[in-house]
Amino acid sequence: MNELRLRDLAFGARLALTLFVAVLAIGFGASAYHLREHHQNRDEQPGVSLEDITGAYHGVNTTAPLVSALERQHPPELLEGERELLLKWLRSGRIVEDYDNFDLGDAAPDQLLRKSCLECHARNSTKGDGIGAKVPLEYFDDVKKLAFSKSVAPVPLKVLAASTHTHALALASMSIVIGFLLLATRWPKALRDGLFALAGLGLLVDLACWWLARSSAALVPLLIGAGALYAGATLLSLALVALDLWWPRRD
Ligand code: HEC
Repeated sequence: MNELRLRDLAFGARLALTLFVAVLAIGFGASAYHLREHHQNRDEQPGVSLEDITGAYHGVNTTAPLVSALERQHPPELLEGERELLLKWLRSGRIVEDYDNFDLGDAAPDQLLRKSCLECHARNSTKGDGIGAKVPLEYFDDVKKLAFSKSVAPVPLKVLAASTHTHALALASMSIVIGFLLLATRWPKALRDGLFALAGLGLLVDLACWWLARSSAALVPLLIGAGALYAGATLLSLALVALDLWWPRRD
């Protein structure tokens, strides 16, 4: 069988392939940018975190540390009425507005915290084994880091299905083309076959995890790893193809 070798193609064809490879690389860059923009703000922190991705594919429910501390009866000396007031405030959806709401008088959260917590949770307090230095509650900037419970719903099933249908069909077709280009290069056979297989494995596991992670958050790291494997194998394949198109022939 006469094997197709990319390097044996005419100049025009190799130029065309190089341009298409560049377009695919641009597409990958745009995907990375989109992924960042799309996911980064789910947890109100800049950058894409594990929690952002978990939020998208599984959903996230975390209880604010202040709420869990108060609920586990910390500190024991706190008057029951004041515990109720603080919990009510933390669950009110008006955490920012009411923190030092003047109209609440002595029942304003900043007053309650000052009275019942700062004894230990002030930066320079000597009580409480130095907890004040680690977990200060002096200013709203301290308090707000511990005050918000998060509840992020995963993307709706309809959206996930639409996204899977476009991604599965487009990416698998694209990867088969890239794989065949790679097979027609002069790189060692093990490298060509191996990268092709890794891309397929990464894509399948990634897409499967999009669905499976809905019921198990433990699969989110696998989802990220498989996506990275797919992207890495694909980009490397593109680079190897582009190099092979122009690398001089030895014979
Ligand atoms: C007598 C000292 C003392 C007082 C008063 C006190 N704390 Fe604490 N707090 C501690 C210590 C010590 C810890 C660390 C051990 C623990 O978690 O129980 C802690 C831990 C915490 C944590 C957990 C921090 C984390 O790692 O997530 C929160 C939240 C907290 N306190 C909130 C409060 C609030 C709100 C008040 C007032 C209503 C308060 N504390 C009053 C000593 C105190």
